[in-house]
Amino acid sequence: MEVVMKPDEQSMSLMAAATIADVIRRKPRAVLGFATGSTPLGTYGELIRMHREEGLDFSQIVSFNLDEYVGLAPSHPQSYRRFMEDNFFNHINLRPENTNLPDGMADDIEAACRAYEAKIASFGGIDIQLLGIGANGHIAFNEPSSSLGSRTRVKTLSDKTRKDNSRFFANAAEVPRYAVTMGIGTIMEAREVVLIAGGASKADAVAAAVEGPITAMCPATALQLHPHALVIVDREAATGLRYSYPSERLKVTKD
Ligand code: PGA
Repeated sequence: MEVVMKPDEQSMSLMAAATIADVIRRKPRAVLGFATGSTPLGTYGELIRMHREEGLDFSQIVSFNLDEYVGLAPSHPQSYRRFMEDNFFNHINLRPENTNLPDGMADDIEAACRAYEAKIASFGGIDIQLLGIGANGHIAFNEPSSSLGSRTRVKTLSDKTRKDNSRFFANAAEVPRYAVTMGIGTIMEAREVVLIAGGASKADAVAAAVEGPITAMCPATALQLHPHALVIVDREAATGLRYSYPSERLKVTKD
């Protein structure tokens, strides 16, 4: 794991966006993995700015999102498809037909999960996957005790996650009980992963994910086994870490 400590959430977001933009510039047909939640908003904002001001081109990009609620239509204001459209897709030149989210409305959800995995594979896998982390250590909706080898499937949301996400709904009872999520095994197959975490509420989860033992009780610890995982944290999210980490990525230059 490469851990980078940034002074604040904005510089964390700028580094995450720059990392994704590098992949796009190197590989204009890259397959990008996106995440929802409050944390990636700054990253998406910076990528939108790069598109508008620097011509960062998403026209050949294909995207796959991590997860979607079961039972919310794509047009529902709290669906993750709507979140992505409102906060990102509608502001860049990513073709709507090239954006993919799990189908939380499918009659046969298991078949839809298999189809999602097959579609990722048909595009050659994900080049770079952006991730947030839950205060309970989840990545996507892989809640504690998720199999570290899991694939895209339906998960029951934990009480903690439903409570955390109730801020987006009229009341806690409206938060769906189930979600379709990429598995930890799916995420681990991305060539590169970038996990971002900001704020004191993430400090315990970050400490467990980076410096704790690998355990299904903190799904993000699986990333310790990923050959190309970058963890970018702001100062507050870093307060539980015992070691100190650099504020920039390692650059090796041959003199
Ligand atoms: P947040 O969610 O970015 O809204 O904190 C992160 C997550 O639960 O993965």
